[in-house]
Amino acid sequence: MVKKLEEYEWICPEPFTNLYTSTAGDYLPCCAIDWNELFKKYGDKIYTTEKHSIRDYFNSSFNKDFKKALKENNKDFFKDICKNCIKSEKAGFRSHRQWYLERFTKDELKHKKEELEKIIHEESTPTFLHSVEALSVGGNTCNLACNMCSEGASSKYNSEAVKLNEIDFMYTKPKNYKNFYDDLDSYKILEFKFTGGEPLLIEDNYKLMQKQSKDTIIRIITNGTVDPSKLIKILKDFKEVIINVSVEGPKDVTNYIRHGSDFNIVLKHYDMMQEVFQRVSFTTTINALNIARIPELLKMRKGHAGSPVTNNFYSVNSIPDDIKEIYLNKLYEEGATDLINYLEHAEYNETDMWKMLRHLKRRDRLRKTNLLDVFPEWKKYYENCNG
Ligand SMILES: C[S@@+](CC[C@H](N)C(=O)[O-])C[C@H]1O[C@@H](n2cnc3c(N)ncnc32)[C@H](O)[C@@H]1O
Ligand code: SF4
Repeated sequence: MVKKLEEYEWICPEPFTNLYTSTAGDYLPCCAIDWNELFKKYGDKIYTTEKHSIRDYFNSSFNKDFKKALKENNKDFFKDICKNCIKSEKAGFRSHRQWYLERFTKDELKHKKEELEKIIHEESTPTFLHSVEALSVGGNTCNLACNMCSEGASSKYNSEAVKLNEIDFMYTKPKNYKNFYDDLDSYKILEFKFTGGEPLLIEDNYKLMQKQSKDTIIRIITNGTVDPSKLIKILKDFKEVIINVSVEGPKDVTNYIRHGSDFNIVLKHYDMMQEVFQRVSFTTTINALNIARIPELLKMRKGHAGSPVTNNFYSVNSIPDDIKEIYLNKLYEEGATDLINYLEHAEYNETDMWKMLRHLKRRDRLRKTNLLDVFPEWKKYYENCNG
């Protein structure tokens, strides 16, 4: 008997019908997985796009063991690598896992629910991919060096980190094995996500878009700095195009945190895309600097506070109590309930705050910028920090 999704204790569609390749060229089960835990525990079992095909990945021992563990609710296998979802669910937030499940049980992927249930039951190579995010196509190619980002996601951040002697290597673009693109053609792809790096800078991304059926949902996360004319021309007849334009707040906040960005140009590109596509919106991270400035942005155009920074010291836990009070007061004035709730739950971590300030000070020197021009409330801490 094929089990229904609802009958499993803790099932997740991602290892069954999702394809995610990282900017370094690793096949990973999904974008929410804890990378540190994954490589610590299963590093020797992770397949790469240089050596392995998509079919190889779905038949790899790691993928098979993971699928089996999910079906049997063997938490020992996945409690560490899936801790982002487990934590979110415990805190009462909808996890990445729950979001995908809901898409199959209630929303736009409902017509594929039974087929997914069969794939799970048989542990077979997928007959469709509910989502593809192939970051190995462009590697970490990016024209910005956003402070909260990382060398793995941005070549510009990478080169700054090398100049600052924080690291001593440059990522190289990963190779995709020779049939990667043809192999992708052999799957029915329900949603293709283009993130990055900066997806609009990557020529192969446009080629991939042109190859998709007009029914494929196209989701793009872009920094908004690249002229979208070519994108518009290719995607204008697609049934569903969702575009998230990443900024961190109004002009001064975005230009400072997303180093290399120009808010006025981003706004112009946003409006060009909004004229053609229905679902264009701003997205921000929620970090220690921008949290109180997000509501100002959301008055300008459609958007939402997107992903909280949790993987480095730009998290809201780096906000000391006196600045937290200033930020909370500002958020109360704006009536920003979700952000207030998020900030109230932050637990101050002084070590992380100094790490963040040193990180900022090194970059301010290199870029000839100054944190205090945009965030003067940090004066007493910034001036006492030896970067
Ligand atoms: C890595 S970027 C790649 C796409 C594109 N370059 C952009 O900035 O939109 C994807 C998303 O991750 C967000 N992001 C960057 N660093 C982050 C972090 N440390 N934690 C959570 N989200 C982050 C970005 O703001 C962006 O919305
Ligand atoms: S634009 Fe995107 S990929 Fe580039 S540095 Fe910023 S967040 Fe990272």
